[in-house]
Amino acid sequence: MIARILGAACAVILFAIPAPGFAAWKPAQPIRIIVPFAAGGPTDTVARIVAHEMADMLETPVYIDNISGGGGKTGVLRFLEDARDGHTLLMGHMGTHGAAPALNADLGYDPYKDFAPIGMAAGTPMVIAVARHIPARDLKQLGELLRKPGSKFRIAHAGRGSVSHAAALLFTSALSISPELVGYSGTGPALNDLVNGQVDVLIDQIVNIAPVVGTRKARPLAIVGDWRSNALPDVPTTRELGVEMKMDAWNGLFAKNGTPENQVATLHTALRYALDSPSVRARLIDLGASLPDEATGSPDALAHLVRDEVARWSAALFELRN
Ligand code: MLT
Repeated sequence: MIARILGAACAVILFAIPAPGFAAWKPAQPIRIIVPFAAGGPTDTVARIVAHEMADMLETPVYIDNISGGGGKTGVLRFLEDARDGHTLLMGHMGTHGAAPALNADLGYDPYKDFAPIGMAAGTPMVIAVARHIPARDLKQLGELLRKPGSKFRIAHAGRGSVSHAAALLFTSALSISPELVGYSGTGPALNDLVNGQVDVLIDQIVNIAPVVGTRKARPLAIVGDWRSNALPDVPTTRELGVEMKMDAWNGLFAKNGTPENQVATLHTALRYALDSPSVRARLIDLGASLPDEATGSPDALAHLVRDEVARWSAALFELRN
């Protein structure tokens, strides 16, 4: 309780004192956060969790607008059309601001130049999950099943350039297999189809997968990368299993390039306020997300991350695009 009060008090002080050289900005209307994927997926989940507390600090409603299509591209382009005055923001991620340029020859935006980063919202490890009807109990068995001559498997993803699409490409390349890849408007609907047995495999951000694992409607076989997750402590990593696959997904909040610095500073403070709130922390950590600190969550850190991700994925995915 004391931590909660102190946390709120610190955040209010931060908000009241604008960053040096900036006059405080007060939103003149509700803030719209465009989520470039369907409702119910990880980008939507992270956006909704932080929006609620951001609204508290900004003293104006903050609402989510899901504009899906094209693996995130449709929503991003709409954001760039509509964002004029700091009241329209974008919840982007490692796909829209990392993998998409490598997988889309005509993306229509520059993830680095067209945006004013506000801050990282969450780190979201990736999980390889299979539908209940798939008999594989581990990744080795899944590999054997997928490689069986004549086998027909469907891997779901959220469209070309999305995180789950990049993950599906890395996975199929690591296993030298070519199952059918099925695109959705987001991994919310993709997960529904995994749970209903319409598709066989989904590799997605943990915040989407973790909630269904307890219901036994989907089975997680591996966490992608080197580190296990507290949210799914029994699930081994791809490193432990000897599968060459690395990917650290994340979600970050963006304004449009050219947004005045005092607006970016205020929006960043509101995002930090949300991330410092004990209820937001608890919900995100419960879902397996990691939370950025002041340094890794800063606008500059997000700008650097985007530049690094675009370079990293253009090298890693270029050969895999088709
Ligand atoms: C992705 O695969 O890029 C995301 O999971 C999409 C989403 O948030 O629905």
